[in-house]
Amino acid sequence: MKTNRFFGRDVVSINDFSRDELEFLFEKTNKMKELKPKEKDELGKARIMGYLFYEPSTRTRMSFEAAMASIGGSSIGISDLRSSSIEKGESLQDTVRVMDLYSDIIILRHQLDGSSKFAAEISDHPIINGGSGSEEHPTQAMLDLYTIIKEKKRIDGLKICILGDLKYGRTIYSLLYGLSNYDVEVILISPPTLKIRQESIYGLKNKMKIVELEEINETVFQNSDILYVTRIQKERFSDPQEYEKVKGVYTIDSTILKQFKPDISIMHPLPRIDEISQDVDNKSNAIYFKQASYGKDLRSALLALILNESPI
Ligand code: NCD
Repeated sequence: MKTNRFFGRDVVSINDFSRDELEFLFEKTNKMKELKPKEKDELGKARIMGYLFYEPSTRTRMSFEAAMASIGGSSIGISDLRSSSIEKGESLQDTVRVMDLYSDIIILRHQLDGSSKFAAEISDHPIINGGSGSEEHPTQAMLDLYTIIKEKKRIDGLKICILGDLKYGRTIYSLLYGLSNYDVEVILISPPTLKIRQESIYGLKNKMKIVELEEINETVFQNSDILYVTRIQKERFSDPQEYEKVKGVYTIDSTILKQFKPDISIMHPLPRIDEISQDVDNKSNAIYFKQASYGKDLRSALLALILNESPI
């Protein structure tokens, strides 16, 4: 049996994990499904997961909570800042220190890049980055890679098109870092003002083929195996007028879908605003809700691996 290198570890960036480690996690995610409820219960028994969400969340928080409950543990946390001492001006540092006293593991979402790294330095217990500014969202990318494997049986050799707000979308950066462990071709499509931040993908171009485009392109869709769509990150714009200019610039609907490779899989980290029309939801290509469901599976394996030396 391979050593569990996740035990006691922080998850700050997906860059900290090798392909081998990611695949170990995917294998354990599959394995979790075979466990009996009693066996699963042992993995988180009497353990507490603390969550600290400075920004809104639906899937990340709920799937982590559901994951912790599914392994027999419990959760405490802050997601409504107004009901906590953060409202009184308590610092991130002090809040993390206190949560560290009450929890065995902490999930943090915060508007600042570097927030999880900072928290990991303060906390004795492992920190999981649940989204740090527009920098990273590593567990989203882990579940995205897992979804691709589940759907396509492989990642190597795929053409993956990523469409949307590539400047501010943190899931995109973690996804690109994760994909760089594989032999893939990536096509990035965004309006000119929302192009990928070159400084954040420095070095990736040596590891994989990256093509950047400014418009939806039929040929690209005909050749892509995956279309990963993201929403425009309204809350990250300093100038609301800039948001108004790009709002609604792209929508994937069932008419455009006809131009795609028939077995293209459409992914989205969600929430979806207007970038994928609801008439796509019932097509077999639409896998974004399945993707969200894998979030709970993968996070329960991740929690089990971090909390136990030899879990499954
Ligand atoms: C994403 C996030 O918070 O970055 N949401 C999520 O966790 N699935 C994506 C987004 O908000 O657009």
